[in-house]
Amino acid sequence: MKKIRYPFGTITINDTAKKLIGEALDSTRVSGGKLVREFEEKFAALVGTKEAVAVSSGTDADALAMAVLYDFGAQRGDEVIVPALSFVATGNAVLQAGFIPRFVDIRRETLNIDPAKIEAAITPKTRAIMPVHLMGKPAEMDEILAIARKHKLTVIEDAAEAQSARYKGKEIGAIGDMAAFSLYIAHIISTVEGGIVTTNNEDYAEILRSLRAHGRACKCKTCLLNTVSKYCTKRFKYDTDIRFVFERIGFSAKMNELEAAVGLGYLEIYPQIYKKRLENFNYLHEKFARFEPLLTTIHPSMHDTMAPYAFAVMVGSKARFSKDKLVAYLEKNEVDTRSLFQSMPTQCRGFEFLNYPKDAFPEAEWVSKNGFHIGIHQDIGKEHIDYFIYLLENFVKNEA
Ligand SMILES: Cc1ncc(COP(=O)(O)O)c(C=O)c1O
Repeated sequence: MKKIRYPFGTITINDTAKKLIGEALDSTRVSGGKLVREFEEKFAALVGTKEAVAVSSGTDADALAMAVLYDFGAQRGDEVIVPALSFVATGNAVLQAGFIPRFVDIRRETLNIDPAKIEAAITPKTRAIMPVHLMGKPAEMDEILAIARKHKLTVIEDAAEAQSARYKGKEIGAIGDMAAFSLYIAHIISTVEGGIVTTNNEDYAEILRSLRAHGRACKCKTCLLNTVSKYCTKRFKYDTDIRFVFERIGFSAKMNELEAAVGLGYLEIYPQIYKKRLENFNYLHEKFARFEPLLTTIHPSMHDTMAPYAFAVMVGSKARFSKDKLVAYLEKNEVDTRSLFQSMPTQCRGFEFLNYPKDAFPEAEWVSKNGFHIGIHQDIGKEHIDYFIYLLENFVKNEA
C-alpha cells in the first residue's frame, strides 16, 4: 500500500471566519467585543447552558473555573481532586489557580477517574472534584455528583476533549457546576488558541468575566464601551474608574475578536465537522476490533456517546512488543501519534514536590506506558484509516 501522510490535527478556517477577521481588522476593534459575545452565546446554546465565558486557553478555562471558588469561601492551598492521568494542563491549572491537586487513579477501561477511589482522597481541605472526560469519553458523572453532593464539593468538568459528548442523555458541559473546554487546534471546535467555561450559574459567569480581566469590578455581559454608545453609566459609580477597581486576584486571559471569528466559522459548519469525525471514529472503531486484545481501545457504553475527538490505542498486556516500537513504526510511515498522556504526579517532574510515591497510580502509569492516540478529524478520510489498519496488520504480523 502507498505511503500516505496521516496528520494528527487540523484547523478549518472557513469563508465566514475570514470575512469576520477582515471586518474586525478593518474596524481596528480586535480585543474581546461583539464577536466574542456572539461566540459565547452560540456556544452556550450548543451545550445547553445559560452562560459561556470565553478565555485564552483550555488551561485558563480550568484555572478560572476553580478560582471562582475563592468567592465562595475556598482558601488558597485548599485541594481539588483530579485524575492522575490527563494532559498535564489539568494538573498545572490546579496549581496555577492556587489549589493543591489531590490525584486519584483512573480505570484503564475508561481512561477516566475511578469513582470508587475518590472518597479516600477527600480531606477537610477539599473544595472540588474535576473529572476529565479524556479522549471524549464521559466520566462516570452520576457517581461523581453523588460523592460531591455528600461532601458539599463543587464539580468542574474538564471537557477539553469532550465537545459533543453525552452522558445519560445529557450534554457534557452542562452536568457539573461548571465545565472547561479547550478550543485549541485539533479540538472539535477551535478558535486557534482559546478556551471557554460553560455554566448555568449566572453569578459564576459574572465572576469568570472579572477573573479573565485581572479581577476587575467591570464584568458586564455586554461591555457598553464596545457598543455604538461607548458610554457606560456604571464606569464612575465608584470614586474612581470601575476599570481600575480590582475585586479579586485575577488572570489576563481574554479571548480576542480574531479568535472568536474563527470560532464562529466553526459553529456555522459544526454539524458537518461532527458528522465527518463521527464517521471516522465509527469506521476506525469497527476496523480496529480485529486487534483486540493485542491492541485495545476504549468504547462507548450503553449510557454514553463519546466525542469524536481522537482515537486511543493501548498495547495489551499479552503483546510481545512495546508501545514505543509500534509508535516508531507508525511515525516512520508518516502516521502522527501522540502519547496517551502521563500519570501527572508520578511521571511529570513538575509534580515531584507533592511527594507521591512512585507506582502510586498503577492504572494511569500503565496507560501512559502502553497508550497513544491518533487523529480522526475532518480532514481524515477512509483512505487514511485503511492505511493505518494496514500498518497495524503488518506490524502485528511481524512482531506478535
Ligand atoms: C484534558 C485537557 N485539559 C486541558 C487542556 C488544555 O487546553 P489548552 O491547550 O487549550 O490550554 C487540554 C488540551 O488539549 C486537554 O486535553
